[in-house]
Amino acid sequence: MVETIEPKPGRGLTQPQRSLLHPTPLDDVSLAATERLQSGIGEFDRVLGGGVVPGGVALVGGDPGIGKSTLVLQVAASVARQGTKVLYATGEESIQQIRMRADRLGLTTGAISVLADPDLEHVLGVAEAMGPGLLIVDSIQTATLPELESAAGSVGQVREGAARVIRWAKQQHIPALIIGHVTKEGTIAGPRVLEHMVDTVLYLEGERVQQFRILRAVKNRFGSTDEVGVFEMTGGGLHEIANPSQSFLQQRVLNASGSVVTVTIEGSRPILVEMQALTSPTVYGLPKRSANGLDTSRLQLLVAVLQKRLGLNLGTQDIFANVVGGLRITEPGSDLAAALAIVSSFRDLEIDPSTIVVGELGLSGEIRSVGQLERRLLEAERLGFARAIVPVHGSVERKRSATIETIRVGTVIEAVRATFKSSS
Ligand code: TYD
Ligand code: MG
Repeated sequence: MVETIEPKPGRGLTQPQRSLLHPTPLDDVSLAATERLQSGIGEFDRVLGGGVVPGGVALVGGDPGIGKSTLVLQVAASVARQGTKVLYATGEESIQQIRMRADRLGLTTGAISVLADPDLEHVLGVAEAMGPGLLIVDSIQTATLPELESAAGSVGQVREGAARVIRWAKQQHIPALIIGHVTKEGTIAGPRVLEHMVDTVLYLEGERVQQFRILRAVKNRFGSTDEVGVFEMTGGGLHEIANPSQSFLQQRVLNASGSVVTVTIEGSRPILVEMQALTSPTVYGLPKRSANGLDTSRLQLLVAVLQKRLGLNLGTQDIFANVVGGLRITEPGSDLAAALAIVSSFRDLEIDPSTIVVGELGLSGEIRSVGQLERRLLEAERLGFARAIVPVHGSVERKRSATIETIRVGTVIEAVRATFKSSS
């Protein structure tokens, strides 16, 4: 049962209903007031589609402790540096804790005002009086509306609270950022219950023990959803990674079996990542299939194709696959790389470290074309790779003389031959 607020009767038409009575020709709608507020943190602005829109509400979701408050405080400071007033309302921490974090991050925080108050009614009242250029609510799970009796963090509280912030932001024409913790099931409602209400949904992802953090838009009414921002968590907060390919490959061990580099496309960016696999004989029970950074069911499919088409006896092997650095690959263009990494580990043959591999693997063992092959090859070339194993289909129009050698393969058998030519 979810407690909700009963609307007061007899209020007549609300503002949006009244404007519906007078439809405006789309061409006449003025765009003057929709100038975006840029935070100045490039990776954050990029994911938002160029900054936050006045009246736009973005949800910043993520696991507890992943760095949401850190990111948002850095955004707040960057916005404040441009002379915009920011109100940072928190129900999680004391204002001293926020000050300590700001000091630790080396931020100048002159134009940021903090308010440690879980009462959302109060927060919006203060915001109204102060007139900030950006409102931050950290987090929606600790914000409460006193007229609801349910506990903070319950579905009713989270939903009504967010609705209140959204209405306020639209009325005042001020952008707002709402932080939401991804929660395990239970009485605390996660950001998913808000996704349909806000304009933009961003998730900060990564492994807490690893340094990389990926900011991803899963919904954006004001831009595309496939851009990602890449950050590194350091002792001094989140740092933008302008050159993710280089960072993801930094710790690569050359000449090890079970490792190969692939190029994945994230939004408009090609990113090079290392794909690793490990096969090891199953000691008892069913063989394990475990994937980190790619879909486990995709891994199972790749293993099945390798068993069937190459006759590899993988049925008695535990198989682990890992995308190094914490990136989650959702496109199939890295199939072939994962498959070759498995073969490499199983046969204990290393793959030439200056080779990159791209291609989708079909069920018949055919290598299917991938999107934006040209961009991927250019990125590989830029990072000094010499050779690329690519699908036989899919055009590569070279606008400039290429230095990277491309080897086109039509089947997984051809791919294995081309990859392990020298060693087998
Ligand atoms: P935080 O932003 O508080 O996470 P969230 O709001 O998503 O719960 O960040 C928590 C973690 O980030 C904490 O475990 C310590 C780490 N951290 C750093 O590594 N460097 C820093 O400069 C800061 C501020 C935090
Ligand atoms: Mg926090």
